[in-house]
Amino acid sequence: MRSLNVALDERAYDIHIGRGLIDRGDLLSSVLKRKRVVIISNDVVAPLYAARVQQALDAASVAHRLVVLPDGEAHKDWSTLNLIFDALLGARVERSTTLIALGGGVIGDMVGFAAATYQRGVPFIQVPTTLLSQVDSSVGGKTAINHPLGKNMIGAFHQPRLVLADIDTLDTLPDRELRAGMAEVIKYGLIRDRLFFDWLEVNMSRLLARDADALAFAIERSCRNKAEVVIEDETETGVRALLNLGHTFGHAIETGMGYGEWLHGEAVAAGSLMAAELSRRLGWLTDGDFERIRRIHEVVGLPLRGPALGAGRYLELMSHDKKVDAGKLRLVLLRGIGDAVIWGDAPVADISAAIEYCCEHV
Ligand code: NAD
Ligand code: GLY
Repeated sequence: MRSLNVALDERAYDIHIGRGLIDRGDLLSSVLKRKRVVIISNDVVAPLYAARVQQALDAASVAHRLVVLPDGEAHKDWSTLNLIFDALLGARVERSTTLIALGGGVIGDMVGFAAATYQRGVPFIQVPTTLLSQVDSSVGGKTAINHPLGKNMIGAFHQPRLVLADIDTLDTLPDRELRAGMAEVIKYGLIRDRLFFDWLEVNMSRLLARDADALAFAIERSCRNKAEVVIEDETETGVRALLNLGHTFGHAIETGMGYGEWLHGEAVAAGSLMAAELSRRLGWLTDGDFERIRRIHEVVGLPLRGPALGAGRYLELMSHDKKVDAGKLRLVLLRGIGDAVIWGDAPVADISAAIEYCCEHV
């Protein structure tokens, strides 16, 4: 087992990465205030893994309930969130009870938001079961649901008490989901870890073949990068925004196409290429580096070309981005591989041209 700590003073917590961790009731139990939990999962993940978590909790003498939600990004909304509150209130769940999010980023974000708001805040644990959630969404305390006008627009910062990333759960993950998660892994290399990007270029075939050692290394390195950023800027007043490389374009794709049509990681991949293309147009990124970025996404099998919504529609959707400040669109751009900046002065004509190029030619 590999472990790291997200050192946020009284909100500090451990991330454990390894095999068979969902059977470790001792780890789950070690962070509980009272030995009572509610596991919240969905109708795809619960049949696969809920019984094992329940057995582990039984062995650690922890009382538990299970709530099963409908699966999918299209259900990351108020009505599904209310199903959680209905279940918690219906069972008179008290504030000292801990929620366990068992699933991918959709479950993690929704359960985290429920935990942030139920009775003004209860503890929660992340048990992420997708690559994307193991390398990104389970760490850092961003929780949210979607709004028809914008992705993740309603939410709160609420840190988990523990993250248990069981690599074995990735065995049942559909290939498309594994590839989508790889977009967020590549992101860390692009924004701040050039050596990791080099490693990914060499080892991508091992990762796609689900080699456990390679996955453990990549998940730990990703979590380490994320933890360092979150420790520096927990509530995104500065450097944390760099974690959103490709996301402003990507969120426009997700919202514009309808939630669930493009996977989040797929939209981030196409969005990262738009950000790279814009950086190249501004003269910051060399053709060689752009080609490396295009190529690694191609090797993973991620979509390179954005959907042809039209640059005007992209810009309209992007104007809802949380990084918009005083009406100014702030984008994460690249000065090289491993070197990202936030830039609010990119000319609209260049942004439009980069979008059009990436919807037609890339
Ligand atoms: P997801 O949660 O929808 O999971 C993808 C699919 O795989 C779902 O159908 C899920 O039920 C299924 N699944 C999960 N684990 C499985 C397993 N082990 N075996 C088989 N099937 C499994 O999608 P995701 O990619 O994990 O997360 C995307 C979400 O995360 C988006 O809503 C995005 O906005 C959010 N996100 C949040 C943050 C953050 O910092 N909070 C960061 C990145 C992404
Ligand atoms: N996924 C972006 C963040 O956590 O800040």
